[in-house]
Amino acid sequence: MDKFIIHGGKKLKGTVKIGGAKNAALPILAATLLAPGTHRLHNMPRLRDITTMTCMLEHLGCQVTGDGTLEVRADHLNFDEAPYDMVKTMRASVLVMGPLVARVRHARISLPGGCAIGARPINLHLKAMQALGADIHLKEGYAEVVASRLKGAEIHFDIVTVTGTANAMMAAAVADGTTVITNAACEPEIVDLALFLNAMGAEIEGAGSERVVIRGVPQLKPAEHTIVADRIEAGTFMMAAAITGGDVTLENAPAEFLQTAMARLEETGVRFEHTEHGLRVIGPETITSANVTTEPHPGFATDLQAQFTALMAIARGTSSITETIFENRFMHIPELARMGADISVDGGTATVRGVDKLAGAPVMATDLRASASLVLAGLAAEGTTEIDRIYHIDRGYERIEERLAALGADIQRVTREP
Ligand code: EPU
Repeated sequence: MDKFIIHGGKKLKGTVKIGGAKNAALPILAATLLAPGTHRLHNMPRLRDITTMTCMLEHLGCQVTGDGTLEVRADHLNFDEAPYDMVKTMRASVLVMGPLVARVRHARISLPGGCAIGARPINLHLKAMQALGADIHLKEGYAEVVASRLKGAEIHFDIVTVTGTANAMMAAAVADGTTVITNAACEPEIVDLALFLNAMGAEIEGAGSERVVIRGVPQLKPAEHTIVADRIEAGTFMMAAAITGGDVTLENAPAEFLQTAMARLEETGVRFEHTEHGLRVIGPETITSANVTTEPHPGFATDLQAQFTALMAIARGTSSITETIFENRFMHIPELARMGADISVDGGTATVRGVDKLAGAPVMATDLRASASLVLAGLAAEGTTEIDRIYHIDRGYERIEERLAALGADIQRVTREP
């Protein structure tokens, strides 16, 4: 198992290029199952979760080649099952449900079970498939989803669900008639999926708003698409610049999707400049506290909450951080406390009383964004921080230690025998 060793206290300076969005790439890879032929996907990040999804596509019968640009050939599907071993590695594997039901009328999807950040059921995905005419049987830990015919429907999501909206859009794309999704997720990754589906010949309008209208078409064709830039990676680098009092320019940062996070960062003293090279992020000498509440897009993203908590740990003043999307997304807090942070949690709200300095310590990553917050804390801390279980960070950030080191951070990956 690898770990990071960080000697904190270096101000980050320079330019970093933001890659393609993991959470756009995953549903788009799943969507290739919808049409035979060869799809070409550019700006594909090199991440563990992407490899997990390409393995899933290969398991189902696709051929996947390339690096950076992936070609997916989805001519023949041999299987219709997302097995437990794959789903337990990555919950987003359930994204193959909509495309499989649409293409082969049958899918057997392992139920994911809980995870580090919450219970995360898929009841709303199943409800959407039912609305589109599928029969669902839960058996031996799997959901069997069968639909001799998919028909357009009105689907209202009681809770905003990102991958649930994606699954419904993919199945509805080839249903008979029109589907209207209300209380749909408005995330930019949903817009990117709609762009890809429309390039495949789908007729989707309203993606990015709470009401998405999908006029079903008889069939889709292969398409070419460039994955949208990763707003969460960009937000994480913004906070890395902020926490070290650095000056970092982000190439390809999708600032338009980060308005809420940037507004909160400006409250903390961060300055932004749009330059010809990209978005310049200038960290303050002293960070000022600010409050955040996570919300579906365009609110403050839950995927940036842990990183913002690390920033607030060394802010002047007290901040209140409320998590409304997941019930257990504060696993980074006891680890930050080991580094000297003063944080108490009451239900869904963390009260962070800023301290002058964090101190390096051995800590453990518990999930992807929690690991990112520990890296940020380590960059700002005095002394040495060792972060264990960093396989979590490799799921969603490409070579993060190399990119941080290129900005001046003192960070090393140490590979240990298991
Ligand atoms: N929910 C249900 N039932 C469902 C689906 C969701 O109760 O059938 C609940 C969840 O338990 C949660 C809330 O609805 O409380 C929102 O969950 P959502 O379905 O939107 O999450 P997701 O689609 O599983 C995606 C991202 C997550 C990100 C969330 C929220 C992907 C592959 N994953 O997950 O990304 O945190 O949306 O924005 O797109 C990450 O990248 O670190 C990550 C966890």
